Formats: sequence, C-alpha cells, structure tokens
Amino acid sequence: MSKIIQFSTKGALDIGYLSFFQDKEIGFEIKRIYYIYGVPKDAKRGFHAHKKLQQFAWCPDGDITIILDDGNSKESIRLNDSSCGLIIKKGLWHEMIWNKDNSVLCVAASDYYDENDYIRNYEEFLHYVKEGYWNEA
Ligand code: TYD
Repeated sequence: MSKIIQFSTKGALDIGYLSFFQDKEIGFEIKRIYYIYGVPKDAKRGFHAHKKLQQFAWCPDGDITIILDDGNSKESIRLNDSSCGLIIKKGLWHEMIWNKDNSVLCVAASDYYDENDYIRNYEEFLHYVKEGYWNEA
C-alpha cells in the first residue's frame, strides 16, 4: 500500500544537507504544493480519502505518523527522516498524527484543490471500496 521514495541528498555535517526529487521519481506531474505547520504534538489530521488525487508527502523537519487504510487493512508509516517521502495513492483513507510539536508536512499533489475529490465520511469511503471504485480495469 505504501511506497517510500528516497531523495537524492548532497551535503555534509559542517554545511548541512540539500535533498531533492523530481516528478519523474514520484510518477505524476505536480500541479500543487501545500504544507501544514504550527501543529501541536498529538494533533491528528486527515481523516479523508481522495477519489482521483495522487499525493506525495514528506516531513522535512519533525516526526509524523501517517496511517493508510485501503478499506481492508491499515499500514502505519513514520515520517521522521528529511531525506525520504511517501506516495499516498488515490483511494486510501489517511490519518496523520503529529509526534512532535511543529513538525512540518509538505505535500506535492497531482491536481488543483477540489473539494469534490474528497471523501470525508468513512462509511462512504467503505462504500466506494465495496463498489470497486479504485479497482484497476
Ligand atoms: P484538508 O485537506 O482537509 O487538510 P487536513 O486533512 O490536514 O485537515 O484541508 C484543510 C482545509 O484547507 C480545508 O478547508 C480545505 C482547505 N484546502 C484548500 O483550500 N486548498 C488546498 O490546497 C488544501 C490542501 C486544503
């Protein structure tokens, strides 16, 4: 369910590090970037799935747990390494837990913001799963 991408990283202890990735590594073209900050420890966010949107999330500073749920099983991924990120495919219910104050979550998304792409009700999400909405043709 989860796919971690390791960034290319340059640098050294005395000057710090620079990490980078390109859209060809994450498998979709990026149309939007957003980031979540100023979040207190133990806060939980997310609680939704997307119908079509593909996302790539990384935590450049801090410690955040992402729980992915495909309607059948759950997986927990810890983002506490600045040099890697997580692909969040469409059709995955996701919850994010802040393990540390002020951890920053950055997200690159495959499309512009569209509230109609969100499924914010878990029962409705399970209904989409049952219908086979995300089954590959
Ligand atoms: P949401 O995706 O629900 O974030 P989280 O799951 O972390 O709580 O977004 C929070 C609010 O911000 C919601 O009202 C939608 C709005 N929003 C935008 O207007 N544009 C965006 O690109 C994003 C990601 C959210």
